[in-house]
Amino acid sequence: MKVLGIESSCDETGVAVFDTETGGMVQRLYSQIERHQEYGGVVPELASRDHVAKAASMTKDILSELGGIGEVDAVAYTRGPGLIGALMVGASIARGIAWALDKPVLGVHHMEGHLLAPMLSDEKPQYPFVALLVSGGHTMLVDVNSPGQYRILGETLDDAVGEAFDKTAKLLGLPYPGGPQLAALADSVESSGFTFPRPMTNRPGLEFSFSGLKTAALNIIQQNQPLTDLVRAEISHAFQRAVVDTLRIKCGRALEHTGYSRLVVAGGVGANIQLRKVLQHMAEQKNARVYFPAIEYCTDNGAMIAYAGALRLIAGHRDDEIYDVLPRWSLQSLPAI
Ligand code: KG4
Ligand code: ZN
Repeated sequence: MKVLGIESSCDETGVAVFDTETGGMVQRLYSQIERHQEYGGVVPELASRDHVAKAASMTKDILSELGGIGEVDAVAYTRGPGLIGALMVGASIARGIAWALDKPVLGVHHMEGHLLAPMLSDEKPQYPFVALLVSGGHTMLVDVNSPGQYRILGETLDDAVGEAFDKTAKLLGLPYPGGPQLAALADSVESSGFTFPRPMTNRPGLEFSFSGLKTAALNIIQQNQPLTDLVRAEISHAFQRAVVDTLRIKCGRALEHTGYSRLVVAGGVGANIQLRKVLQHMAEQKNARVYFPAIEYCTDNGAMIAYAGALRLIAGHRDDEIYDVLPRWSLQSLPAI
């Protein structure tokens, strides 16, 4: 079965076709980042318009490369969570194609896409595993018992990790989204004279809170004006260390709590090199293994939606009658596959 997947929940337009028989994946990705940069964050209306401008032609391209629209056996799209207008674009195109071809169509949960993205790597984790989902909009630890069976172990009470990276980067004068640039600055020095708190690590539980780090960064920045390049790098280093340390402590706890020996890291912040190193080390010490999706599947993409959609479509799931999108949608409400 060839499943077309369309992702348009935020500022990336992703289109992919997954062949369930061969495991082959073809994908196209377009990032709108430059469009939003001058506003310092994603502007929902601009995002919708840009998806309209790109999604249909990207879908056409990928389908003509594969031999035409008739090659599609089923269609999956991101139904939520995300920006309502942006979601509507992918949903409309997906529904249109499915109706025209009289093929099954399914709305996919964006976070399920991220959670299952490591299954697209050569080294696939076995179930069950703990997943750390760290993106610009979400931070959560999830008990993944089997595909479709998710139990949220802990979430952020305020900012997501990626958001904390981006807001702190903005305070340091870096362009949006500053996460990767802050990380590069942090890695340019070996140590730092600054310290940041490790929020919520000194009490039990698996919840997170990252908004305090942004405030701590603001205080340090105000006390160290004018910022030199070295001070900027040292602040980034200390900030990144605090975030990575906090995530390490909570991931370790989640492994102990569930008794699982596999940790999967997904979402854009999963591209962070220090996070990868530190979690790798933590897992080794616990006789556990950590799995990361390929970098191209860490950020938003159509491949993860095609894959998650395919798993459900093969199992007979479809929602041909429903035409809606869900800007808010609980991961735990999904039916098991
Ligand atoms: O998953 P994603 O592409 O989009 C969302 O669904 O949010 O995640 C994007 C987030 C941004 O906040 C970005 O700054 C952050 O991931 N990010 C990073 C790195 N690469 C991307 N944060 C820290 N270090 C990185 N290397
Ligand atoms: Zn995402």
